[in-house]
Amino acid sequence: MKNILVTGGLGFIGSETVIALLEKGYQPIIVDDLYNAKLAVLDRIETITHVRPKFYEVDVTDQAKTEKIFQENQIDAVIHFAGYKAVGESVYKPIEYYRNNLDSALVIVDLMRKYGVKNLIFSSSATVYGVPERVPLVETDPVSEATNPYGETKVMIERILKDVYKADPTLNIALLRYFNPIGAHPSGLLGEDPNGIPNNLLPYVSQVAIGKLKCLKVFGNDYPTPDGTGVRDFIHVVDLAEGHVATLKKLEQNPGLVIYNLGTGKGTTVLELVHAFEEANHVKIPYVIAPRREGDVAVNYANCDKAYRELGWKARFTIADACRDAYHFQKMNPNGIQ
Ligand code: UD1
Repeated sequence: MKNILVTGGLGFIGSETVIALLEKGYQPIIVDDLYNAKLAVLDRIETITHVRPKFYEVDVTDQAKTEKIFQENQIDAVIHFAGYKAVGESVYKPIEYYRNNLDSALVIVDLMRKYGVKNLIFSSSATVYGVPERVPLVETDPVSEATNPYGETKVMIERILKDVYKADPTLNIALLRYFNPIGAHPSGLLGEDPNGIPNNLLPYVSQVAIGKLKCLKVFGNDYPTPDGTGVRDFIHVVDLAEGHVATLKKLEQNPGLVIYNLGTGKGTTVLELVHAFEEANHVKIPYVIAPRREGDVAVNYANCDKAYRELGWKARFTIADACRDAYHFQKMNPNGIQ
C-alpha cells in the first residue's frame, strides 16, 4: 500500500495524519474543499516534512470532480476525514449535516467500488456510544442514538459501511472511534483552528491563556465524578494520527471490517485538564462554574486494549504534552492559521 487518498486532509486531524503518513513512507493525496481548513496548512506540511503532497481542492460530495481524482491516481486506500463536525451547529442545520456527511461517504464508497479500491478508514467518534451505560467503553458496547445530528451522521455512516462490507466482503474497512483529540503538532505550525468562539474545551482554554477570551465557563460541577466536572478521554492529536498509520498496516492483512477505539484509556476531569494546562504552561486560567451544557454526558473514556492488541498502537503523549503543544500553537498563531 502506498498511495493514500486523504479526504479532509488539511483539517486538524487530517493534516496531522498526512504528516504521520509521510514520515512512514506513504504517499498521501489530499482532497479538501477548504470549507473549514486553510490552504496555508499545505505549506506548513511542506515546511515540516519537506514534501508537498499532491492536493485537490474538491468537495467530495461532488462525484464527478472526485471521480477525476480516482482516474488520475492509483489509490490503494482512502482515509475519509472530510465532514462537518460542529455539534451545536448540527442541531440547527440538520439538513446540511446529513446531506454533506452522508453524501461524501456515499461518493467515496461508490468510487472505491468503481475503481476497485479495497481499503477504507473512516473517522468515527465516541459519540456513537451515546450516553454510555458503563465506562470504559469497549468496541462491542451498543451503538445507540446520538445526542445530535452530527453524532447521528457518524452512527449512520458506520451502519452504511457495515452494509457495504456485507455486500462486498473483499473490502477492508476500519471504523476508528476517536475520543477527545487535543494538542497540536510540536512545531507549533499545525493545530486546531476553529472559526469564531471555540466550542471544544482545549481551544477555549488556549484562547483564555493568550488573553483573547476572558474566562472559561466550566459546564457543570455536580456530576458524579471526583471533582464534579465532566470526565473525558483526551488524546494527543499526534497519537491519533499515528493510530491511522497503524490501522493501515492492519488493513494490509485483509482483516475485513474492524472497529477500534482510539483514546488513552484514561479519564481526566475538565478541572484536571485546566490545572494541567496551567502547570505545563505557567499561566493562570480564570474560570467560573456555569450550568451543565445540554447533551453532555458525565463520563466518557475508552478501553483501548483492542487497538494495542491488534494494531500494536497506544497513545504515548501525556496530557501535559498536549497542553504544552496546544499553547505553543496558540501563541504562534494568535489569529489562527493565515
Ligand atoms: C464533542 C463531541 C464529540 C467530538 C468532540 C471533539 C458529542 C456529544 N461530543 O465532545 O463527538 O468528537 O467534541 O470535537 O457529540 N467544557 C467546558 N467548557 C467549555 C467547553 C467544554 O466545561 O467551554 C466541558 C464539556 O462540558 C465537557 C468537556 O469540557 O465536559 C469536553 O467538551 P468538548 O471539548 O466540547 O468535547 P465533548 O463534548 O466531549
